[in-house]
Amino acid sequence: VKDGNGVKGLVDSGISRVPHQYIQPPKERMENQSSSSSSPELALIDLSKLDGPDHEHAAKEIVFAAETLGFFQVVNHGVPLELLDSLKKSAYSFFEQEPEKKAVYRNGVSPSPYVKYGTSFVPEKEKALEWKDYISMVYTTDVDALASWPKECKEVALEYLKTSVSMVRKILKVLLGNLGVTAVEESDQMMDGLTGLKMVNMNYYPKCPNPELTVGVGRHSDMGTLTVLLQDEIGGLYVKLEEDGIRINNNINGYDQWIEIPPINGALVINIGDTLQILSNGKYRSAEHRVRTTSTKSRVSIPIFTIPKPTEKIGPLLQVVERDGGVARYREVVFEDYMANFFGNAHEGKKSLHFAQI
Ligand code: SIN
Ligand code: FE2
Repeated sequence: VKDGNGVKGLVDSGISRVPHQYIQPPKERMENQSSSSSSPELALIDLSKLDGPDHEHAAKEIVFAAETLGFFQVVNHGVPLELLDSLKKSAYSFFEQEPEKKAVYRNGVSPSPYVKYGTSFVPEKEKALEWKDYISMVYTTDVDALASWPKECKEVALEYLKTSVSMVRKILKVLLGNLGVTAVEESDQMMDGLTGLKMVNMNYYPKCPNPELTVGVGRHSDMGTLTVLLQDEIGGLYVKLEEDGIRINNNINGYDQWIEIPPINGALVINIGDTLQILSNGKYRSAEHRVRTTSTKSRVSIPIFTIPKPTEKIGPLLQVVERDGGVARYREVVFEDYMANFFGNAHEGKKSLHFAQI
């Protein structure tokens, strides 16, 4: 890790066993997880239906998925299929470069606050490191910010952002509409605030000599509004089925139960972030998820995090609180503070939400 080549550097150096820093405590190891046999169905939603006579049906599917699993997949999402392939290729071309080429983007030396190459999540706070390298690119309208995005990823990442905007807004419009935000102007304004910042990450999970001892990403929920995720054909993304006493499946053996989000060629994964859980006073579920490692093949995934403007105030919508008998489950937070808390701590399930919990 110190040589600036992340976990990939470790693997390339030919290690036959993972270093102790990566060994997860038994309760975090995924071999100990219980996979559900009677899973609720994972929705695969045709987004083009939102534009036609089946609008109501598709909208209901989106709301139902947001209220239950918190994850669904979409097709006819508007991101060209060739672009999905180019994105995966460009992730490999970034990570397979000479270590020196990547190291220039490391935290502290990166030419820009908007680009960061790193490994694990918050290494200085983690009891066990995650088996993952990443490059993170923040989108702002500041031209200089874009100038420092790595050339291996820049063009495709920008195209990915551009072609996913309308999908994100359509989904949000449905979710806000269901909460009672139906006036066009109010909805548009709210969406602007909720989508003020965007970040594209390219994650690289090298193959791992001890997948039973490690995690690619530990249990966490996403902090933002919505996440759009492209995963490759390897699989390994798991979502937790229940929490906070909300049982969406019968827990037979007392272990947490997880279901895998299976790779579907051409589809994108959508998940609800903490921001929407807060805004909806807990109706929409920002689900805990994690990623396993494998011994045979490396994996890439490419999320777009749509997050509120840092200055945005996020709290439960008044009309929802009213419907809930006047009981707000979260306080209002300035998103910048929420984000600082999220990035200042290791992944620990849904702990990030405690920051806003009442
Ligand atoms: C994440 O949730 O941080 C990564 C998801 C994935 O790689 O599939
Ligand atoms: Fe995530």
